[in-house]
Amino acid sequence: MKHLKNILVTGGAGYIGSHTVTKLSEAGFRAIVVDDFRNSYQSVIENLNELCLIKPLFFNVDCTNRVVLKRIFETHHIYGVIHFAAYKSVEDSINKPAAYFQNNINSLVTITELMNEFNVDKLVFSSSCTVYGEPDSIMVSEDSPLQEAKTPYGYSKQVGEDFLKFLVKSEDNIIKPIILRYFNPVGAHPSGLIGELPINKPRNLMPLVCQSAAEMIGPIKVFGTDYDTPDGSCIRDFIHVLDLADAHIKSLDYAKQMDEPLEVFNVGTGRGTSVLELINSFQAINHIEVPHVLGERRDGDIVKIYADTTKINNKLNWSSQYSMEDAIAHSWNWQQNLLSQKVF
Ligand SMILES: NC(=O)c1ccc[n+]([C@@H]2O[C@H](COP(=O)([O-])OP(=O)(O)OC[C@H]3O[C@@H](n4cnc5c(N)ncnc54)[C@H](O)[C@@H]3O)[C@@H](O)[C@H]2O)c1
Repeated sequence: MKHLKNILVTGGAGYIGSHTVTKLSEAGFRAIVVDDFRNSYQSVIENLNELCLIKPLFFNVDCTNRVVLKRIFETHHIYGVIHFAAYKSVEDSINKPAAYFQNNINSLVTITELMNEFNVDKLVFSSSCTVYGEPDSIMVSEDSPLQEAKTPYGYSKQVGEDFLKFLVKSEDNIIKPIILRYFNPVGAHPSGLIGELPINKPRNLMPLVCQSAAEMIGPIKVFGTDYDTPDGSCIRDFIHVLDLADAHIKSLDYAKQMDEPLEVFNVGTGRGTSVLELINSFQAINHIEVPHVLGERRDGDIVKIYADTTKINNKLNWSSQYSMEDAIAHSWNWQQNLLSQKVF
């Protein structure tokens, strides 16, 4: 195939990265995946090869390793970079601040140094709604104030964003970063071939719900049912992972004619769903019980938050297409497929 544009996708074997790789192929890009599988399975490669018309290239590399990463920049013309690779658990980060800083900050610094060295100007960076902390109002826009981070993970994303803000002001920089603040990704590819599959015990709600329904783990705990929300449980903005993946493709397009040297976008649906609503919908849609118990509040949990999506709707011409029902059905389909393949 001639003149394919290569997109370097760090963490491309992970949950959001793998779905984005399928969208890149659909959009006519070739993904060059850099992932050392510290939080993903090598079987993802086989499944991505099945799903992608334009076959991705894979490199088993730690993307804090500048020397090895440089060889990839030397041997492939890179059009743009999507930087997913990071540790992502709010909970784990509390006991592993050094590991979170070592990985989440060093990987970003390494990637941007190489981008400037090799004249690559398009960067999409994975940030998180965690940067807003406990917001003053339930709906947050990109201009909402960022509260003091409560965890090393949240802080690592704030530092990543700040680093990019300083970088664009520096003399020799050519990178124009697009920072995407993801809300809560859920769902899986409708094929059932890829989905969320962390190496250790999942921390995110949907895989826990799926594993509980599949009786792989015991009842899940709903942390807090006495908050100031309609059913007392926390409210989140759950976004289908393929919609989120699509926001990266729209970002690459927008990167060609950016208004500002750096842009930040919320990526969510603009709708709030409570934890109990999600569990109840899962049971109704998939006709299966999700064993769960109602528990105490958990320290550090944000009570309610959802995205103001006006900016991304208008500037990137992006809006979410999948419903919560789709995400729930696709997650369960993925879980059942995993069980039949005996991946665990
Ligand atoms: N999933 C979420 O709920 C969520 C929400 C907000 C932001 N994010 C951010 O989105 C990004 C992707 O999240 P995800 O859910 O796909 O996570 P994931 O753990 O499924 O994927 C990350 C991938 O990066 C790889 N990786 C990590 N460090 C690496 C390194 N140094 N070198 C090479 N590979 C490395 C892992 O093996 C994994 O395959 C992360 O930056 C995360 O912080 C995720």
